[in-house]
Amino acid sequence: MIYIKSREEIEKMKKAGKLLANVHKEIAKMIKPGISTYEIDQFVEEYIISHGGYPEQKGYKGYQFATCASVNDEICHGFPRKEPLKDGDIVTIDMVVNLDGYLADSAWSYAVGNISEKARKLLEVTKNALYIGIEKAVVGNRIGDISHAIQTYVEGEGFSIVRDFVGHGIGRNMHEEPQVPHFGIPGRGPRLVEGMVITIEPMINIGRYECVIDDNGWTARTIDGSLSAQYEHTIAITREGPIIITDQEE
Ligand code: MF3
Ligand code: CO
Repeated sequence: MIYIKSREEIEKMKKAGKLLANVHKEIAKMIKPGISTYEIDQFVEEYIISHGGYPEQKGYKGYQFATCASVNDEICHGFPRKEPLKDGDIVTIDMVVNLDGYLADSAWSYAVGNISEKARKLLEVTKNALYIGIEKAVVGNRIGDISHAIQTYVEGEGFSIVRDFVGHGIGRNMHEEPQVPHFGIPGRGPRLVEGMVITIEPMINIGRYECVIDDNGWTARTIDGSLSAQYEHTIAITREGPIIITDQEE
């Protein structure tokens, strides 16, 4: 069942989202060759807790960290580690903030130092894909309209869309209905109504879309070793249009 949020609940989610956006702004300043994703994870945990929130991923289904940190061919659910990031890497930092019982979820891919032209293009297309999806997150559309717009754009750019991980409803729980695939058929799927809150979080690969899971049981990486990127926002559907709960602007 899809939980519809009241205006007050959306306001609470916006507070969680603001905190999360501020964390990403801090991460953007920290990312450079030599820093480790473990250090970033420690920073994030401390920052969220000292601002009155909780890093919801920590302890979720046994996950041990505040963030997922997925480097290069890792698609998602990468474990933070002490090995430093290198010039030319790309890294996706994903996290969920719980503030007063309401959650917000956002992932962002970062360039470490100077990256290749191909990697830069991947980041650009993946971020565009997120915003193309957000444009379709309007009352009266269906989930499939979001899915299809993203797929059409990304495949037109020659990249592929991960199938095995999708966006989701979110509120007091990290994962609620509906599922939000980043590929699909327009006019299909649940109708978008006022008060729905969902994540849109395309994971895009340069090569094939299939993934393999590491021995740690969590980390997904591309089957062909190609680079993968992801941008994710939490979005509220309202009569006035989509509200980006985790916006980093202003
Ligand atoms: N933030 C992720 C999402 O977008 C969930 C991470 S899984 C966890 O759905 F276990 F690490 F929390
Ligand atoms: Co996320």
